[in-house]
Amino acid sequence: MITAKRENLKSFIERSPYQAYVYSYPHKTAYRPLTPPVKLADLWSKQDRQALFLYIHIPFCEMRCGFCNLFTTVTHNEDFVSQYVRTLQRQARQVKSLLGEVSFARFALGGGTPTQLPINHLETILNVASETMGANLQNIPVSVEMSPETADKDKLQLLRSRGVDRASIGVQSFIESEVLATGRRQTTAQVEAALTRMSEAGFPTINIDLIYGLPGQTVESWLYSIRAALRFQPEEIYLYPLYVRPLTGLGRSDKEWDDIRLACYREGRSLLLSSGYTQVSMRMFQQRENVETLHVTSLQPPCPVYSCQADGMVGLGCGARSYTDTLHYSNDYAVGSKEIRDILLYFIQTPDEVFEYANYGFQLDAEERRRRYILLSLFDDEGLNLTDYQNQFGTDVIAFPELSQLLSLNLTTQQNQILRLTEVGIEKSDVIGAWLFSDKVNQLMHSYEFK
Ligand SMILES: C[S@@+](CC[C@H](N)C(=O)[O-])C[C@H]1O[C@@H](n2cnc3c(N)ncnc32)[C@H](O)[C@@H]1O
Ligand code: SF4
Repeated sequence: MITAKRENLKSFIERSPYQAYVYSYPHKTAYRPLTPPVKLADLWSKQDRQALFLYIHIPFCEMRCGFCNLFTTVTHNEDFVSQYVRTLQRQARQVKSLLGEVSFARFALGGGTPTQLPINHLETILNVASETMGANLQNIPVSVEMSPETADKDKLQLLRSRGVDRASIGVQSFIESEVLATGRRQTTAQVEAALTRMSEAGFPTINIDLIYGLPGQTVESWLYSIRAALRFQPEEIYLYPLYVRPLTGLGRSDKEWDDIRLACYREGRSLLLSSGYTQVSMRMFQQRENVETLHVTSLQPPCPVYSCQADGMVGLGCGARSYTDTLHYSNDYAVGSKEIRDILLYFIQTPDEVFEYANYGFQLDAEERRRRYILLSLFDDEGLNLTDYQNQFGTDVIAFPELSQLLSLNLTTQQNQILRLTEVGIEKSDVIGAWLFSDKVNQLMHSYEFK
């Protein structure tokens, strides 16, 4: 039985629309050591493995940006990187041997900055995905994250020739003083040159990440950055509100900055909508027709379609998460540079047989599974299909009292059998997401000690 929330939604969202960055559920800070460790062969044998997401994590960057709390390091040398890649190959062989028959519907290479890898290692990683794991990269959506300085011509050509169809670049701002204030070394000339190279390499989808709420940013300078991005006609643009997280380089007091983030969001959104983009979620904007046409024409059947609410994810690499219906797992997590380095050192010394177990994670009971499904569905513009939910869980969504509060505050709307966030609801996605967390997840997240 699902218990009602202690705090009502109205007072919760009035505090701030920006309480936590919610893109999945549960958050990694709710993970804990698993005792005893879970045998992956048993776990995956119970999972539908016909349309899995393969994710490989590269924890290296050329710089540590002041806003970023991702699991990544700048203190690496050639030897360490080679050892990391070799470990990843070992892990992939081990994991593949225990997965049994699988089919991958999607592959993402993320970080950190995957293009920080020398080209020979980048090629090895693509081979891990295609040969060791058996993902048909030419036939499924494949996405790679990159930074302006590391996206060189040879790497871009390699990625494109191996089937990468989405190249995603972190730009953050087209105003140098704004990025430099976050400790990110990057000139606008480098950004523009990288975007030109990406478009020459012929990726069907180019995504540009931008951040609003940066120190020194104004609504006008924010719109300037979006207009600068639009000159490159990217198929996708992500607008990220800045979150200042524990242990990152950027300290900041709360005062007025909710106001500027909200104003930036609203102005940025209307600029993109008037420029022909469709809003897919609070952060994601897409030139939908282009992206859909390209996907349909570039993928040959049979191409299994991955659904983020329902399907599993196999994560490889030290910072990757893996999802099954009943267990989410990963390695230990840290933000501080020394702690990240220690976890990475431990990773490259991991004996093969240890890769057969999940040691750290979160077990999802029936309530958590339903909660996750609802949360991810609401965050997608397709919305929560009540019939699909009933079919999936054999119970009516009415069992969730939270949903009636969302409806009564006009944060969601119901049309036929689909529940969707309204315009105001999308704007408040992150706070709605945080409010939908279970008591158990909240307790774990609050008691997590950042390191
Ligand atoms: C893996 S990085 C993208 C690729 C590459 N590492 C780079 O930065 O160019 C993921 C993206 O998350 C966003 N991001 C990370 N930390 C953030 C924060 N604290 N607030 C807002 N956005 C953030 C940035 O826009 C960044 O581009
Ligand atoms: S924003 Fe990108 S480049 Fe900067 S530290 Fe994070 S992952 Fe690395």
